[in-house]
Amino acid sequence: MSGADGRSETTTETGGNSVPVVTVDGPSGAGKGTLSVALAERLCWHFLDSGALYRLTAWQALEAGLALDDTPAVAGAARELDVRFELDGQGGYRSMIGDQQVDKLIRDERVAAAASKVAALQPVRDALLQRQRDFRAPPGLVADGRDMGTVVFVDAPCKIFITANAEERARRRYEQLKAQGAGVTLRALLDDIQARDQRDRERSSAPLRPAADAHVLDTTEMSIDEVVAAALAVVQERLLL
Ligand code: C5P
Repeated sequence: MSGADGRSETTTETGGNSVPVVTVDGPSGAGKGTLSVALAERLCWHFLDSGALYRLTAWQALEAGLALDDTPAVAGAARELDVRFELDGQGGYRSMIGDQQVDKLIRDERVAAAASKVAALQPVRDALLQRQRDFRAPPGLVADGRDMGTVVFVDAPCKIFITANAEERARRRYEQLKAQGAGVTLRALLDDIQARDQRDRERSSAPLRPAADAHVLDTTEMSIDEVVAAALAVVQERLLL
């Protein structure tokens, strides 16, 4: 599943596009990815991981040896991106550029930190805006990110903002990385998450905050199944499914 096949059906503005969108925004580690994929699978809709676009931009900039504050060069890298997301039907997905699966390249903490730096550059956000809107294709889209409900799909009929306290988000990430055999400490992950939260919330371009019409879900004390069930109830109510 990808937006690539739906590009001809999109508009340059969000207005006038009747394809439904569920936006899932929130800070790092709140569980947006897991929830968004689960919703996209249940609804049989397309899926956008907007964070992957920022990570790929950062990764390409690092690979090319660009300074992360070289705004025109980094925005150029963002304009070149042509990624699509394929759900695997088992709660996961592949990020594909052509025939290459790129997930492994962009999932480390070095790329995550660089992504949150390049994401603060307005020309980079501008370069990725239409690319994100192009994923809006029938029968619908689940869009995961930070500003899906506030900037990219302001007219989305269903907006969810999920959060959890920083300690719990660091703990979840720690368990995930430990299972993959990565040598990280909880303290370092917590510091990292707090620094990214601060950058994401305080930046002038599209700061992280819930849209006024978003349903806010605090997942600190919820299991994944409980989060999915609560979000599905919101989707059903807002989209009258
Ligand atoms: O969600 P993920 O951790 O993959 O996102 C990587 C970085 O990209 C975040 O720290 C955030 O700074 C940025 N981002 C953003 N806007 C989005 C999605 C991600 O600024 N819609």
